[in-house]
Amino acid sequence: MSATVTDNIMPANESALQRAQKLLTAGRLVALPTETVYGLAADACNGEAVARIFSAKGRPQFNPLICHVSDADMAAQYAHVNAPAQRLIDAFWPGPLTLVLPLKKNAGIHPLVVAGLDTIALRQPRGLMTELVDRMGTPLAAPSANASGKISPTTARAVQESLGDKVDLIIDNGLCAVGLESTIVKVEQEQLTLLRPGSVTIAELEKVSQMNLLVAEAGSAIQAPGMLHSHYAPSSAMRLGAKSVEPGEALLAFGPNRIAGSDQAVAVANLSSTGNLIEAAANLFSMMNQLDKSGATQIAVE
Ligand code: TXA
Ligand code: MG
Repeated sequence: MSATVTDNIMPANESALQRAQKLLTAGRLVALPTETVYGLAADACNGEAVARIFSAKGRPQFNPLICHVSDADMAAQYAHVNAPAQRLIDAFWPGPLTLVLPLKKNAGIHPLVVAGLDTIALRQPRGLMTELVDRMGTPLAAPSANASGKISPTTARAVQESLGDKVDLIIDNGLCAVGLESTIVKVEQEQLTLLRPGSVTIAELEKVSQMNLLVAEAGSAIQAPGMLHSHYAPSSAMRLGAKSVEPGEALLAFGPNRIAGSDQAVAVANLSSTGNLIEAAANLFSMMNQLDKSGATQIAVE
């Protein structure tokens, strides 16, 4: 079975926030939810703290981290914000949109955060993380709080199972509302590029920015570094577009109607029994995780 829950999980309340601030100031790691997924946070200006993130996740150091800011003013302290970027910020922050912007050198972000690049990924999330950044007065670098290459966690329990005692504190605020990582857009002078799709859509981005969006192809060099290899992968293989469930498989279902053989599935989880895509997105990673642990040889996906 999975790891037992130890006392590094605290419910989201004032004393958890105070403990988090103390730990982060001391260069330690705290996992906490954003509206997308749980993040593994460290003070972005403290090199040792940032290094702890890479080591806890087993993350390759060429893969840069997203920095979470408390507002647009904090973003402008660390990055050059041009007019289209400002329009995107005004429309979508706080929210699940990350902007990759030119880094202001010597503003204090540790180079390990950006993996030596001259750009920085910034976002202002909704809720607890923004509250904590505001209290700290300094950006928090935070990748998804899972071991590198595994599914992003949408519950405190999933963080615990993936990272265990490598994280000093996990703040539990229930299931993440969006459940998918933020949309990532790179903003250059004449060009917007979608580096990672998410819940903010291409149409919305083009409308607000008044620019065309270039969409990075899977495997191309202009994708976010973290998307170049296997990512979001459960340990079991996933079989997409399944027409029936094979012996030994678990079933990831969607909508009211089941494919053939579903009653023989090792385990079944339904992303949304009414076929609601927002609900499905919120459930995706936690249900992949759940089926991954069911002992099935493979996961059939409707
Ligand atoms: O929803 C989210 O974005 C969550 C929550 C915790 O905020 N965070 C998250 O972080 O998904 P992570 O580390 O799992 O994914 C960050 C992605 C990686 O693919 C990384 O390569 C890319 O952002 N990235 C970071 N900085 C970048 C930069 N300067 N240029 C291009 N891509 C960058
Ligand atoms: Mg991740």
